[in-house]
Amino acid sequence: MQIDIGIAEGDRKAIAEGLNRVLADTFALYLKTHSFHWNVTGPMFNTLHTMFMTQYTELWTALDEVAERIRALGYPAPGSFSQFSKLASIGEEQGVPKAQEMIRQLVEGHEAVARTARQVFPTAEQANDQPTADLLTQRLQIHEKTAWMLRSMLE
Ligand SMILES: [Fe+2]
Repeated sequence: MQIDIGIAEGDRKAIAEGLNRVLADTFALYLKTHSFHWNVTGPMFNTLHTMFMTQYTELWTALDEVAERIRALGYPAPGSFSQFSKLASIGEEQGVPKAQEMIRQLVEGHEAVARTARQVFPTAEQANDQPTADLLTQRLQIHEKTAWMLRSMLE
Protein backbone atom coordinates (compact mmCIF):
# COMPACT_ATOMS: atom_id res chain seq x y z
CA MET A 1 0.00 0.00 0.00
CA GLN A 2 1.15 3.54 -0.81
CA ILE A 3 2.67 5.55 2.05
CA ASP A 4 1.09 8.99 2.52
CA ILE A 5 2.50 10.57 5.69
CA GLY A 6 3.27 13.98 4.18
CA ILE A 7 6.95 13.36 3.39
CA ALA A 8 7.83 13.18 -0.32
CA GLU A 9 9.13 9.84 -1.55
CA GLY A 10 12.55 11.25 -2.46
CA ASP A 11 12.91 12.70 1.04
CA ARG A 12 11.83 9.44 2.68
CA LYS A 13 14.43 7.60 0.62
CA ALA A 14 17.22 10.06 1.46
CA ILE A 15 16.37 9.96 5.17
CA ALA A 16 16.17 6.14 5.17
CA GLU A 17 19.58 5.93 3.47
CA GLY A 18 21.01 8.23 6.12
CA LEU A 19 19.43 6.15 8.88
CA ASN A 20 20.94 3.01 7.31
CA ARG A 21 24.36 4.53 7.99
CA VAL A 22 23.37 5.47 11.56
CA LEU A 23 22.14 1.88 12.06
CA ALA A 24 25.37 0.38 10.67
CA ASP A 25 27.55 2.63 12.84
CA THR A 26 25.42 1.86 15.90
CA PHE A 27 25.73 -1.88 15.21
CA ALA A 28 29.51 -1.67 14.72
CA LEU A 29 29.84 0.25 17.99
CA TYR A 30 27.44 -2.13 19.78
CA LEU A 31 29.50 -5.15 18.73
CA LYS A 32 32.81 -3.52 19.65
CA THR A 33 31.48 -2.47 23.08
CA HIS A 34 30.11 -5.95 23.79
CA SER A 35 33.38 -7.61 22.80
CA PHE A 36 35.30 -5.17 25.02
CA HIS A 37 32.93 -6.14 27.88
CA TRP A 38 33.99 -9.76 27.33
CA ASN A 39 37.70 -9.17 26.83
CA VAL A 40 38.72 -6.26 29.04
CA THR A 41 41.48 -6.97 31.59
CA GLY A 42 43.50 -5.04 34.17
CA PRO A 43 42.99 -3.12 37.43
CA MET A 44 39.94 -1.31 35.99
CA PHE A 45 38.25 -4.61 35.09
CA ASN A 46 35.19 -4.31 37.27
CA THR A 47 34.43 -0.69 36.39
CA LEU A 48 34.93 -1.18 32.66
CA HIS A 49 33.19 -4.57 32.43
CA THR A 50 30.09 -3.04 34.08
CA MET A 51 30.28 0.26 32.21
CA PHE A 52 30.62 -1.46 28.83
CA MET A 53 27.54 -3.57 29.65
CA THR A 54 25.46 -0.45 30.33
CA GLN A 55 26.71 1.03 27.04
CA TYR A 56 26.13 -2.01 24.81
CA THR A 57 22.65 -2.48 26.29
CA GLU A 58 21.78 1.11 25.42
CA LEU A 59 23.18 0.68 21.88
CA TRP A 60 21.23 -2.56 21.41
CA THR A 61 17.98 -0.81 22.30
CA ALA A 62 18.82 2.08 19.98
CA LEU A 63 19.34 -0.31 17.04
CA ASP A 64 15.70 -1.28 17.23
CA GLU A 65 14.52 2.34 17.35
CA VAL A 66 16.58 3.32 14.30
CA ALA A 67 15.63 0.23 12.28
CA GLU A 68 11.94 0.67 13.01
CA ARG A 69 12.09 4.32 11.94
CA ILE A 70 13.55 3.16 8.59
CA ARG A 71 10.60 0.75 8.27
CA ALA A 72 8.06 3.46 9.12
CA LEU A 73 9.54 5.53 6.28
CA GLY A 74 8.83 2.64 3.92
CA TYR A 75 12.26 1.07 3.42
CA PRO A 76 13.84 -2.22 4.48
CA ALA A 77 16.29 -2.04 7.37
CA PRO A 78 19.73 -3.55 6.63
CA GLY A 79 20.45 -6.49 8.94
CA SER A 80 23.49 -8.40 7.71
CA PHE A 81 27.21 -8.20 8.47
CA SER A 82 28.04 -7.53 4.81
CA GLN A 83 25.57 -4.63 4.56
CA PHE A 84 26.72 -3.21 7.89
CA SER A 85 30.40 -3.42 6.97
CA LYS A 86 29.73 -1.56 3.70
CA LEU A 87 27.69 1.16 5.43
CA ALA A 88 29.63 1.66 8.67
CA SER A 89 32.24 4.37 9.20
CA ILE A 90 33.65 2.59 12.29
CA GLY A 91 36.40 0.04 11.71
CA GLU A 92 36.30 -3.29 13.53
CA GLU A 93 38.81 -4.47 16.13
CA GLN A 94 39.94 -8.05 15.66
CA GLY A 95 42.48 -8.16 18.45
CA VAL A 96 42.27 -7.55 22.18
CA PRO A 97 43.58 -4.05 22.95
CA LYS A 98 44.66 -2.87 26.40
CA ALA A 99 41.91 -1.28 28.51
CA GLN A 100 43.09 2.30 27.78
CA GLU A 101 43.09 1.60 24.05
CA MET A 102 39.57 0.13 24.32
CA ILE A 103 38.36 3.35 25.94
CA ARG A 104 40.09 5.40 23.23
CA GLN A 105 38.47 3.35 20.45
CA LEU A 106 35.04 3.72 22.06
CA VAL A 107 35.47 7.51 22.29
CA GLU A 108 36.24 7.50 18.56
CA GLY A 109 33.25 5.22 17.90
CA HIS A 110 30.78 7.43 19.76
CA GLU A 111 32.17 10.48 17.98
CA ALA A 112 31.80 8.70 14.63
CA VAL A 113 28.13 7.83 15.23
CA ALA A 114 27.52 11.44 16.31
CA ARG A 115 29.05 12.71 13.04
CA THR A 116 26.93 10.29 10.98
CA ALA A 117 23.72 11.21 12.85
CA ARG A 118 24.52 14.91 12.46
CA GLN A 119 24.98 14.52 8.69
CA VAL A 120 21.43 13.09 8.38
CA PHE A 121 19.81 15.78 10.54
CA PRO A 122 19.45 18.55 7.88
CA THR A 123 17.72 16.12 5.48
CA ALA A 124 15.17 15.16 8.15
CA GLU A 125 14.67 18.75 9.26
CA GLN A 126 14.17 20.10 5.74
CA ALA A 127 11.62 17.31 4.98
CA ASN A 128 9.63 18.19 8.14
CA ASP A 129 10.36 14.71 9.52
CA GLN A 130 10.05 15.44 13.25
CA PRO A 131 10.20 11.82 14.48
CA THR A 132 13.55 11.27 12.72
CA ALA A 133 14.86 14.65 13.91
CA ASP A 134 13.78 13.72 17.45
CA LEU A 135 15.42 10.29 17.24
CA LEU A 136 18.65 11.78 15.88
CA THR A 137 18.63 14.43 18.63
CA GLN A 138 18.34 11.71 21.27
CA ARG A 139 21.13 9.70 19.63
CA LEU A 140 23.39 12.76 19.40
CA GLN A 141 22.83 13.52 23.05
CA ILE A 142 23.72 10.01 24.21
CA HIS A 143 26.76 9.62 21.92
CA GLU A 144 28.21 13.00 22.85
CA LYS A 145 27.63 12.37 26.56
CA THR A 146 29.14 8.87 26.43
CA ALA A 147 32.13 10.16 24.44
CA TRP A 148 32.69 12.81 27.13
CA MET A 149 32.48 10.26 29.96
CA LEU A 150 34.89 7.87 28.26
CA ARG A 151 37.24 10.69 27.26
CA SER A 152 37.34 11.85 30.90
CA MET A 153 38.78 8.46 31.91
CA LEU A 154 41.80 9.08 29.67
CA GLU A 155 42.83 12.37 31.32
FE1 LIG B 1 28.19 -10.14 30.33
